Amino acid sequence: MKRGLFITFEGPEGSGKSTQLRILGKRLRGKNLPVLETAEPGGTPIGLQIRRVLLDAKNQELCPTAELLLMFAARAQNVDQAILPALAAGHVVLCDRFTDSTLVYQGAARGLGTELVYEVDRIACRGLVPDLTLVIDVDIETGLARAHRRNQRTQDSETRLDEQSLEFYRKVRAAYQQLAEDEPRRVKVIDGSREEEDVKKAVWEAVQAPLQTLLA
Ligand code: TMP
Repeated sequence: MKRGLFITFEGPEGSGKSTQLRILGKRLRGKNLPVLETAEPGGTPIGLQIRRVLLDAKNQELCPTAELLLMFAARAQNVDQAILPALAAGHVVLCDRFTDSTLVYQGAARGLGTELVYEVDRIACRGLVPDLTLVIDVDIETGLARAHRRNQRTQDSETRLDEQSLEFYRKVRAAYQQLAEDEPRRVKVIDGSREEEDVKKAVWEAVQAPLQTLLA
């Protein structure tokens, strides 16, 4: 069965990755490619219920291990119900965050460690690894300011993970950079501090090589 292409978008809060994912999705559909856009935590009706528990600002007592397992519970559901069937049908799957987020937020910033994250990943994702991961990078202050403006505008109550210490977000950003150094073939860092149009161009360039492989 021909497999599609699995592209993930990563980055700290307020990086603009979700906007870029939507722009890319539209562009690929314009080229008559079948596209699935999905997001984590969420992506499925069950995943969205788990997302509410994870991000509700009232759930301050949620412990790091429960946080980790709930991220993977939402992901397992998304992998089974949406991502694997779409890949099997030859779709380009664009996923807003995936296991790299868990490596960075729970593994590095919460301090649970990389090994534990990979261990649960083996159960939840069963070897599914993105073909390409785009880390949209912005400095912490710019990103948090954008995220807070968005939360106020939408009166979002899913802000628990937008309210961590600056030290937490410094670890997040450093861990993304480390990931790109460790896996340079899969993980590409894109400077998200530029104009939206320039970021869009960089994203388009980055997807050309895997797209050619898909279309070959
Ligand atoms: P979002 O704002 O991109 O929708 O992401 C929601 C929050 O969840 C964001 O602060 C990052 C966090 N997160 C983790 O901590 N671990 C994960 O595995 C995922 C997918 C998200």
